[in-house]
Amino acid sequence: MSVDNFSTASTSITGESTLVYQEASRRVQKEKGIRVINFGIGQPDLPTFRKIRNAAIKALDEGFTGYTSAYGIDELREKIASHLNSRYPSERPIKKEEVIVTPGAKTALYLAFLLYVNPGDEVIIFDPSFYSYAEVVKMLGGKPVYIKMRWTEENGFSLNVNELQEKITPKTKMIVLNNPHNPTGMVFDPREIEKVMEIAKERKVILLSDEIYDYFVYDGKMRSVLEDPSWRDYVIYVNGFSKTFSMTGWRLGYIVAKDKVVKKMAELAANIYTCPTSFAQKGALAAFDSLDDVKDMISLFRRRRDVMYEELKKNKWIRVYKSQGAFYMFPYVGDILAKTKMQVKDFSLKMIEEAGVTTIPGEVFPLEVGRNFLRLSFAVDENDIREGVRKINEFVTGLMKE
Ligand SMILES: Cc1ncc(COP(=O)(O)O)c(C=O)c1O
Repeated sequence: MSVDNFSTASTSITGESTLVYQEASRRVQKEKGIRVINFGIGQPDLPTFRKIRNAAIKALDEGFTGYTSAYGIDELREKIASHLNSRYPSERPIKKEEVIVTPGAKTALYLAFLLYVNPGDEVIIFDPSFYSYAEVVKMLGGKPVYIKMRWTEENGFSLNVNELQEKITPKTKMIVLNNPHNPTGMVFDPREIEKVMEIAKERKVILLSDEIYDYFVYDGKMRSVLEDPSWRDYVIYVNGFSKTFSMTGWRLGYIVAKDKVVKKMAELAANIYTCPTSFAQKGALAAFDSLDDVKDMISLFRRRRDVMYEELKKNKWIRVYKSQGAFYMFPYVGDILAKTKMQVKDFSLKMIEEAGVTTIPGEVFPLEVGRNFLRLSFAVDENDIREGVRKINEFVTGLMKE
């Protein structure tokens, strides 16, 4: 046995994460001594709001530094429940026993997959999607089954719900839904979300709903799965503090599910990470008192989205749908790739190298659909958005002339 003999779980990971492009961007910056404009970032560029920082500092000063319950601290679970109850009023409100706090939404997703996926089980994932869903399913010996979303320049992406009925087999354990959506920036039509909910219920498949961008809605209305009074029968709801409160490094997310499910997750948690970070949880207690700051951030991001959209529209080779949610634009670059005979990955790397602009190639969000798209984050200073997209446009014009 050698240290190079890795487990099946670890070798099942095949996808690339966004980190490769951040790495390339750092290298170019260093080697060429230039400032690379970074549209690759998946986090708000603002500091965590003051009230939250103060609450965590206070907790540290008061010595709140030991382990907590695997469920997270009771006050935070209660606060999350009451926040969601005021957002989605119901005759059977969410109780704290139905909430578990986790180290980031990623860990929440991991617990959810770990709880349900056996080797050979199928999990339906819409393509494109956040890369880690499929990777974790594969780690557990499960099989990601993709449904290709449909795209038009006029309407953006739709979930292609008709295909969902056909893709469900006796082996299907879960459907993963993400709304608002990374990487496309879609806020899906509430009727489409309702259809997915109906099918999951009817076919007795668990619906794992990742709503981490729920505050980042610029146009249209977002339908949460928690609005269905019968969510307890089939929903595992995931959310977190990372994006809404600009707390990515704090590592705090949460799950809402019926109490029996949450109890089982806490048993897994106790054996994997014990508990979420104690003083970070105290900070998060102040998060829901910072919703005015969140509102300001959303207004800022709406403006940035508009600027990025207008700038990208100037490029006749790029086709772009104005995103309505999250903080990503996902323009179609298939015409450029066809003419230059390039793969989107090479196109993105060349752009870092030659234009000094980082974007994430859509193929990072498996499987096929993303191969004609680029993801650009607009959680970036407005002047950088103007300059960065101008550089992209120049770069593309140069390529198309060659
Ligand atoms: C759709 C989606 N879900 C989950 C996460 C992970 O969030 P966290 O930082 O809370 O682990 C991200 C982060 O990029 C995301 O885009």
